[in-house]
Amino acid sequence: MDPHRIRAFAPGRVNLIGEHTDYNDGLCLPFAIDRGVTVTAELQDGGEVVAPDLAGDQRFLRGAVAELRRTGVELPGCTLEITSDLPQGAGLASSAALCVALSLALCAAAEVEPLRPVRLARLCSRIESEWAGQETGLLDPLASLLGEEGRAVRLDMRTLEARSVELDLHGHALATLDSGASRSLAESGYNERRDECRRAVELLGLESLRDADDASDLPAPLDRRVRHVISENERVDAAVAALAGGELRALGELLNASHASLRDDYEVSVPEVERAVEACGDAGALGARIMGGGFGGSVLGLFPPGASLPEGAVSVRPGPGARMS
Ligand code: GLA
Repeated sequence: MDPHRIRAFAPGRVNLIGEHTDYNDGLCLPFAIDRGVTVTAELQDGGEVVAPDLAGDQRFLRGAVAELRRTGVELPGCTLEITSDLPQGAGLASSAALCVALSLALCAAAEVEPLRPVRLARLCSRIESEWAGQETGLLDPLASLLGEEGRAVRLDMRTLEARSVELDLHGHALATLDSGASRSLAESGYNERRDECRRAVELLGLESLRDADDASDLPAPLDRRVRHVISENERVDAAVAALAGGELRALGELLNASHASLRDDYEVSVPEVERAVEACGDAGALGARIMGGGFGGSVLGLFPPGASLPEGAVSVRPGPGARMS
């Protein structure tokens, strides 16, 4: 292997359940998939870190360089080549995968050990929020970093405990279907939901919505937003129990309940997403739901053995986390 060439791969993620809970100190159940972003660094003597492939979007590179320097990493000059087999804006966390792969490649180029997963996930989340203008929680970078073959991870965002959960689907398949809906709306809508949660926390006098148990006194629509967060946290543990008991029908019902809550209480669905959920139902899905930030992106469906997936759906299974390759 050429010692001047370094390659890091970071996968995208699917979140089985636990949506819009990460920034509310709640629970999520994601897994890393086998598609992702690869960053290859070609070291050179002196000079800057450049990434011609990022073309118009140099914010991620500037953020990664600045955030790593802030932690004391001295970066050598290098040219980064970036390739990806993750569709952008499809709700599979392509930008988090980019941040993770950039950070790992740059740490290796600087010959320093990468930060531990939680610190590295925080750094990646800062690149996205402070440099690329998109608020995010820790769900995506942690899912990319902690991926394991055949397993999902139950993340408790309050304690930052990560518990590995076997994902035995007994012959069923999980698949994503891109709704095709636009991304700009996603960014503004996502940030608005986060503001609403901050307002609800203030009005309830709590530290975070993880502590909320009743939202009925809040003004609309904050009452509905909080109701979603409370019920979604419960669904994560119900899903962990359904998996442990091999109850795939129950898991499907939880996906449907999560979708209904995201559509009616959290109000992050759009007509294109509803059509994609319907297409999953028509193909015999036991459950389907909108995934990721909302207002577009992909839906996730759970299909029984032998079902033919709807047109355009891509089957997904849990794979290993980010790594040097
Ligand atoms: C996006 C964000 C995540 C998380 C999800 C919603 O994917 O990047 O941090 O908030 O939306 O669950």
